[in-house]
Amino acid sequence: VFAAGQVSISIDAGKPGPVINKNVYGQFAEHLGTGVYEGMWVGPKSNIPNTRGWRNDVVGALKELHVPLVRWPGGCFADTYHWRDGIGPQDTRPSNVHGSNVEAINAVGTHEFFDLIDMLGADAYINGNVGTGSVQEMSDWVEYMTSDGGSPLARLRAQNGREKPFKVAYFGIGNELWGCGGNMKPDYYANLYSNYEHFLRAPEKARPKMIASGGSGFDTAWTQALSKELKGRTIGITVHQYTVPTGNWDVKGKDLGFKEGEWISTLANTMKMDQLVKDHVAVLDKNDPEKKIGLMIDEWGTWYDEEGRSALFQQNSLRDALVAALNFHIFHQHAERVPLTTIAQMVNVLQAMILTDKEKMVLTPTYYAFQMYVPFQDAKSLPLAIKDNTSYTLGAVTIPGVSASAARAKDGKVYLSLVNTDPSKAVDVAVDVAGTKVKGAAGKVLTSAAMDAHNTFQNPQAIKPAAFSAGAAGGKLSIKVPAKAVMVVALEE
Ligand code: AHR
Repeated sequence: VFAAGQVSISIDAGKPGPVINKNVYGQFAEHLGTGVYEGMWVGPKSNIPNTRGWRNDVVGALKELHVPLVRWPGGCFADTYHWRDGIGPQDTRPSNVHGSNVEAINAVGTHEFFDLIDMLGADAYINGNVGTGSVQEMSDWVEYMTSDGGSPLARLRAQNGREKPFKVAYFGIGNELWGCGGNMKPDYYANLYSNYEHFLRAPEKARPKMIASGGSGFDTAWTQALSKELKGRTIGITVHQYTVPTGNWDVKGKDLGFKEGEWISTLANTMKMDQLVKDHVAVLDKNDPEKKIGLMIDEWGTWYDEEGRSALFQQNSLRDALVAALNFHIFHQHAERVPLTTIAQMVNVLQAMILTDKEKMVLTPTYYAFQMYVPFQDAKSLPLAIKDNTSYTLGAVTIPGVSASAARAKDGKVYLSLVNTDPSKAVDVAVDVAGTKVKGAAGKVLTSAAMDAHNTFQNPQAIKPAAFSAGAAGGKLSIKVPAKAVMVVALEE
């Protein structure tokens, strides 16, 4: 029996659900703004400490996140990217201007990207160019990366310094075909996809898992057409869903200095991800009852009005950490159908982990959310029920006060994550685990006095996680979750 006013959470550790694929914690690194150049790549001759051109500080920080997967080179950039521009001696590579008027110097090409991937210990998710490329060009790229010898392209790769094939775990055939990828219709792209996929040459054992580029937001027409037409030819269909505070793309809302109205609207808008996943999964369940096709949310996160420093640069505050955690909970909930997501993006672009300014680097609240949730990578999700949840209301908007998720991690421990969406009121949570007497819990909490608490180059430690522990009585945990907080604790059983 819990005290009045408490939220009750029951976890059933005896009935583990599907594994939360570590690739749910994937990242997206696009040649956009200062996302790659400056943010991650400074070149081997830079005064900023680097390893073969990649910033040591940024790579070191990313390693702490156990980044499982990186999507590259775009996005819309991929729709105009020609891979041959990015191989061979760096000083002979052409520079060219892409869709978003970003000059690409091509210093980072296939070999450099795989160097980063190796340093991070991550898998590669390469996105091919359908928009302005050709079947032959894409087929050649896959062959160049994966072929193990006996082919002119494998010899070219060796000449460029890499004898052994690269491991391409995932390959995306096009990006946003409904928009920057070519303004196509789903049925037309379904045929194109079949054509491209048919000619992608790779040794059988090294064949990347092929991903089809799907729709935007709640538009399920793409999921419908692709899941019907591409059975056996794709392991996933993508969907892109961004969180815009105002819901209006013309005036999206500011990254900092927002009022409580945009705090709640941002969280309410991000929680729509749950319905979005349900809508797409309903289509998949109809067309793919064998569950061979996953929903890959390979662009998600907040999108605010631009700060102006570089394309799509925005600050990142405590609000972004809550957005990340609320989405993690939704992805965990749908672990069976959502095996991969990549947040947009890794550094200096949209909801980034890291911001850089010349030699300086700051870790964002989103970075800390990803770090706190590392134990959920490849953990077994556990059924969790919330009773007597609080709600948080402002004006006409009401959202649940507490969001939670639990899993048994690879280290054998049960982890519980909690979000309190209310910016002013702490909440008491009582937690019981069926069949177990819990002795206590310890972990981290991320919160602050201000809704837009953030780190700057002058004050890089303004917000970071603090240690947290909670006691138990009679086998039940009692946790006070501060206002506007993200918390992850390991239970002591
Ligand atoms: O992530 C930024 C851009 O958003 C990507 O290039 C594109 O795919 C999407 O529209």
